[in-house]
Amino acid sequence: MNTNKTKNGFCIIGCGRVGINLAVFLAQQGYRPAAFVSKTLESAQKAMDCVRGGAVFTDPAQAARDCNLIFITTPDVRIEPVCDQVAAAEGFDANSVVFHLSGALSSVILSSARKKGAATGSLHPLQSFVPYAPDAASPFEGIHMSIEGTDRARNLGQQIVTRLKARPVTIPTDAKTLYHAAAVVASNYLVTVEHAALTLLGRAGLEPDRAFDILEPLIQGTLRNIAARGSVDALTGPVVRGDEAIIARHLTDIDKKMPRYSDLYRLLGQHTLEIARKRPDFPEAADPGLVDLLKIKSD
Ligand SMILES: NC(=O)c1ccc[n+]([C@@H]2O[C@H](COP(=O)([O-])OP(=O)(O)OC[C@H]3O[C@@H](n4cnc5c(N)ncnc54)[C@H](OP(=O)(O)O)[C@@H]3O)[C@@H](O)[C@H]2O)c1
Repeated sequence: MNTNKTKNGFCIIGCGRVGINLAVFLAQQGYRPAAFVSKTLESAQKAMDCVRGGAVFTDPAQAARDCNLIFITTPDVRIEPVCDQVAAAEGFDANSVVFHLSGALSSVILSSARKKGAATGSLHPLQSFVPYAPDAASPFEGIHMSIEGTDRARNLGQQIVTRLKARPVTIPTDAKTLYHAAAVVASNYLVTVEHAALTLLGRAGLEPDRAFDILEPLIQGTLRNIAARGSVDALTGPVVRGDEAIIARHLTDIDKKMPRYSDLYRLLGQHTLEIARKRPDFPEAADPGLVDLLKIKSD
């Protein structure tokens, strides 16, 4: 692919948790480390030491010019300005392939590189990274990594992800925001829902450690059921049974004792009712009563 013999190897711009881990495990898979640039020289030097190859650069455009594969692994807010800076200094050309690793942003923010003829894409590892430690297992192995971008970037992205022993998931560029929202709902909002459950148990008189011990088998069992049967069939409890009396009792107590959870309980209940309606065993006669009970009072 690279016709320019002087451009070879990969460059990391932003030598933090993801940048250094990526560099180490790409190098282990045979990709040639060529250049490291960071905000501070120390971080670029650390990356080079961890990888045991490449060279430290102070000018990101010079580093990018010397490489055919460029990863911008700065914090999200710095990706586009760094890309624009490198593009303005003629750091990219038609032989460059430029990736960032943000989950929240798409490759559209690399448009200044694309205008210079570069292929652009994003590779998002669904992983929580810690700083690289020698002898630590690869944080890429076995995880899923989403890929989007131009055809050439997607093709190369597939090869990179596969060689990192991760599993590629290709998504359309304009789906990146919803993809990231899904990850936030699945992970962060799961924490919010469990926190609410622990708070309700706390109000019921249980110590926080004990409360989690009590809930954990229920949480783990639910996750296993979703994995085995899908979210519709995994649903149990009063909404799918159409048990209006129990829901009414919950709401009376929550409204009285924990009113800040009143709206959350009702809103989650409305979405649970939508799932319940997909089940052949849902008693339809209970539907209007549940709709009424689960109306948010401030609406
Ligand atoms: N952390 C995760 O779990 C995770 C997971 C998936 C995706 N990501 C994505 O990976 C990317 C990097 O995240 P991270 O967690 O590795 O961040 P990080 O640990 O904060 O590292 C970012 C690095 O970028 C460098 N930097 C900041 N501004 C720069 C600039 N203008 N030019 C060059 N280098 C600059 C910093 O340099 P100095 O050290 O020199 O100050 C820092 O080392 C982000 O897009 C993030 O969304 C992160």
